[in-house]
Amino acid sequence: MRQIAVFASGRGSNYEAIEKAILKNKIDGCRVALLVCDKPDAPVLKLAEKFNRKTFVFDPKGYKSKADYEADIVEALRDHKIDLVCLAGYMRIVGDTLLKEYKDRIINIHPSLLPSFKGKNGIKDAFEYGVKVFGVTIHYVSKEIDGGRIIAQRAFEYYGDDIVELEDRIHKLEHELYPQTIKKLIKEL
Ligand code: GRF
Repeated sequence: MRQIAVFASGRGSNYEAIEKAILKNKIDGCRVALLVCDKPDAPVLKLAEKFNRKTFVFDPKGYKSKADYEADIVEALRDHKIDLVCLAGYMRIVGDTLLKEYKDRIINIHPSLLPSFKGKNGIKDAFEYGVKVFGVTIHYVSKEIDGGRIIAQRAFEYYGDDIVELEDRIHKLEHELYPQTIKKLIKEL
């Protein structure tokens, strides 16, 4: 049984999709052993409670540096024997401490077709640019923001003018692609 950790900072809809996929036996051989969150009041923590999951919650302001809080995260990951780290709306840049410890075992989901529209406003930027093909990307996390090796992508055409509808479609796609990709990666670990 592989142990995964999900890192999230906000709503947690991708985290929830992963948990639901596991419950429906769509991802065999793994469980979420830890939810890591940098915002003590994030809604995702309520979801973790619902699924009865262990959490590691930290407030970066309480630490001198990224290396310091990441050292604590690494300790928590080791304690829970984590094999794979899945970032799902974790709004922090991952630093050397984590990258070194979990080399090629940290993945992220991004709501655009990388390398286009990197950064935290991927959907809005693509919409405002006026592209007609949108999508999502799962990639390994590297030093470069949204720049690591691509693992999976899925795309669709959208000619509408409703960003809320577009966001909804992108999130639905994320909720399918992330569990499917985790399933594949788990087999290769
Ligand atoms: C998702 O759109 C993901 O691609 C991006 O952050 C968002 C997180 O949403 N990295 P949620 O917290 O999973 O609902």
